[in-house]
Amino acid sequence: MKKIAVVGTGYVGLVTGVALSDVGHQVTCIDIDQKKVERMQKGVSPIYEPGLDEVMMRNIEAGRLQFTTDHHEGFSGKEVIYIAVGTPEREDGTADLQYIDQVAKDIATHVKQDVVVVTKSTVPVGTNDHILSLIQEYLVHDVRVEIVSNPEFLREGSAVYDAFNGDRIVVGSDSQRAGDVIEEINKPFGIYCYRTDVRSAEMIKYASNAFLATKISFINEIANICEKVGANIEDVATGMGMDGRIGHQFLRAGIGYGGSCFPKDTKALTQIAANIDHNFELLNAVIRVNNHQHRALTEKAKSVLGSLEGKRVAMLGLAFKPNTDDMRESPAMAISQELILAGATVVAYDPIAMDNAKNVMPAGVSYVQNVEEALQGADAAFIVTDWKEFKALDLSVYVDQMAEANVFDGRNCYDLDKVALTKLNYYSIGRPPVV
Ligand code: UGA
Repeated sequence: MKKIAVVGTGYVGLVTGVALSDVGHQVTCIDIDQKKVERMQKGVSPIYEPGLDEVMMRNIEAGRLQFTTDHHEGFSGKEVIYIAVGTPEREDGTADLQYIDQVAKDIATHVKQDVVVVTKSTVPVGTNDHILSLIQEYLVHDVRVEIVSNPEFLREGSAVYDAFNGDRIVVGSDSQRAGDVIEEINKPFGIYCYRTDVRSAEMIKYASNAFLATKISFINEIANICEKVGANIEDVATGMGMDGRIGHQFLRAGIGYGGSCFPKDTKALTQIAANIDHNFELLNAVIRVNNHQHRALTEKAKSVLGSLEGKRVAMLGLAFKPNTDDMRESPAMAISQELILAGATVVAYDPIAMDNAKNVMPAGVSYVQNVEEALQGADAAFIVTDWKEFKALDLSVYVDQMAEANVFDGRNCYDLDKVALTKLNYYSIGRPPVV
């Protein structure tokens, strides 16, 4: 079992550190945020991620998982250092590598033993080479440093499950020895380890996210056409997915993808292409389709209700997807902005993301504590996140609470046959309306 440091305790770093400790490694997670570190030392996860607190606690108690703000202490005696800091999007769509560069310099300053540096953060092709040369430039002690690209494929909301059940682990290294070390570390997970070179591993991450985003925009375009020609997107996607070459996953039509990864990584990949004078036309279209899809519900509401001026809209769900409190790039923000511009009043409810939402949603949105309160007296309900709680609702709640039971479902939460038995006016994505 190895002694490992993980720098950065966002959801990638924290889940990685916790999972590595759970299979028996000795892990120290390092973060510059003192308050966050103090909370994590007590076993409190800074992010909402199902199952994480429990796994975190059992490894802290077993003495395998520590947290610190001190790089010197964190790196001391470690054979492997994972970099899992953020690579936020710059205004021009490129990835901002300032946090990565800082970690590289910290490693160079503090390591006193040979070390394998592993990049988990999503970084443009060539960044691992840049990290290695930066470390070598600033290196204080005479030690051997090698680099491995080990991109992350966890999904928020099921990150703990994914850590133990991924489809593959990608290990990109130009040093056989360093790659062997990382393959060995991951053996206890029992997940197939795909070995390649550093640059191909970096590209696998961007290409995977861009491909999944493409699937989503594709199915959303098919859904928009289905609405006009009277077909049902659910049946279309099911029939398509039965072809093993297509597969069922990521064919759920909706209001477009959000989150901290797809929007950022698709833009970054178009920039990577632009830097070598390649216009990635397909991916540019994927991004445009997605931005347009965020407006699908509001456009539908306008065409059904006419003006939205003075209308009360209940917004059910704010997080970019269920089982997370993450509001980054959530379609809820663009949708509420448009509703407010159209003169509507927005009353929002989300089971988990409300605190985060209050910091980023447009001013003027008000928040309530449950579905019933949100629906009370509303002229329209917008379902933005497909939380289980909303899917399980007795549909009579809409009819009982709303002034007019106009439901615009951006996530196709309900079966059309069940809706047909109610008095709902129901408009979903890529399916015939039920009125
Ligand atoms: C995504 C990838 O799925 C992970 O493999 C990857 O590790 C991660 O990005 C990352 O790069 O860190 P995540 O953003 O957590 O994970 O969430 P997804 O479950 O992929 O959903 C992304 C967005 O696509 C959500 O807004 C979701 O509502 C939307 N989506 C997903 C659809 O609209 N339709 C689908 O069929 C699937």
